[in-house]
Amino acid sequence: MITKKIKQHFPIFRAHPNLAYLDSAATTQTPQVVIDAMNDYYAKYRSNVHRGLYDISITATEKYEAARKQMAKFLNSAPEEIIFNSGATFGLNALARSLSPRLSHRDNIVLTRMEHHANLVPWQEMSKHYGFEIRFIELDPTSYQLEPNSYNVIDENTKIVSLTQASNVLGAINPVAEIIKLAKQKSPKVYTIVDAAQAAAHLPIDVKKLDCDFLVLSGHKMYGPTGIGVLYGKKIMLEEHLEPFMFGGEMVSDVTYERATWNEVPYKFEAGTPPIAEAIGLSAAAEFITKIGMNTIVAHEKRLTDYALEKLTPLVNIIGPSTPSPSQRRGRGEVSRLGVISFTIPGAHPHDIGEIVNRAGVCVRVGHHCAMPLHKHLGLVGTARASAGVYTTKKDIDKLVSAIKEVKKIFG
Ligand SMILES: Cc1ncc(COP(=O)(O)O)c(C=O)c1O
Repeated sequence: MITKKIKQHFPIFRAHPNLAYLDSAATTQTPQVVIDAMNDYYAKYRSNVHRGLYDISITATEKYEAARKQMAKFLNSAPEEIIFNSGATFGLNALARSLSPRLSHRDNIVLTRMEHHANLVPWQEMSKHYGFEIRFIELDPTSYQLEPNSYNVIDENTKIVSLTQASNVLGAINPVAEIIKLAKQKSPKVYTIVDAAQAAAHLPIDVKKLDCDFLVLSGHKMYGPTGIGVLYGKKIMLEEHLEPFMFGGEMVSDVTYERATWNEVPYKFEAGTPPIAEAIGLSAAAEFITKIGMNTIVAHEKRLTDYALEKLTPLVNIIGPSTPSPSQRRGRGEVSRLGVISFTIPGAHPHDIGEIVNRAGVCVRVGHHCAMPLHKHLGLVGTARASAGVYTTKKDIDKLVSAIKEVKKIFG
């Protein structure tokens, strides 16, 4: 069970004891163990990896490769299937650039109506060059979950299905394993991609169970540092399907003035000096999550989400699932939404909401949350969004609730 003592692991709450930080979907706070792991690199063995034959460089290489192993364990993959990069945006852009040349105007790709710009705009750009059609799995406007009837946009010409595991606006969790299975039945050569940016810190992720070809995540949304992410790819995909998307040092095996051949996976996808301290910090974050236990985290955040929905529903319009949707089959202990709660208050602009709750020390995000098409689709200019992490308490929610009452007094 997670208690309020967990805040002691996060130095930010010593610097700001009264902070109600409800913006973990944008970025999470950093526990001391992550800061210590990165400080150790800088203070004790800073050097480049895979290059030096001297002791501290050997230590740096060992720690960097141990970080890869830790992330592999976190996702239930093999270490060589883990590519470090700068985050989910980089991973999705890399996939779009590398896979799209395989597609033509006869093909289509399938996304959902709830994608972050990072899983939409790269495909739009590639579609201009390669002519493929972009299709969308629809959203049920009352449950805010994906509409299973519209899975039929996937057909034998679907070459890529790329979808978010959980929405950064609605909090809805998508049945990605089910959609991936269906996609592979309809189009055996389809590439399947999971955007786990929002899921990584809040749901167990098992790439074998998902059976996805690729998955991306961002370290800073899972208690790790900024500037680091993971692109997971099935080994066969990395070896035989994905072309390198960055060129330079380390990713090569042999180079002449005329040509180059590639290093083995995962190195052929890690050109240049990698984010060493950040990878080490990220692995400390994954270890931090693992030690608490993902099931404990899920239960904690479910309790808080239920509490927040109960308190907020009479006050605001919730833009997202309020109760488990009957259209989503969930097993025991599974949850149907994350602690990402977007809302509107009639008469109050989201920016006004953000401004007023900030005066009470409550941090929420306002705007379109990099999902402008989704907001337009729902007829909204923007929303305010409160999102939870392991350190979130009922007291934080209570502060939000009383700040919202203040907003309603002013604008009501
Ligand atoms: C669902 C989703 N995908 C992708 C991203 C992009 O992540 P990053 O900005 O860390 O690259 C985000 C960030 O908010 C997100 O919520």
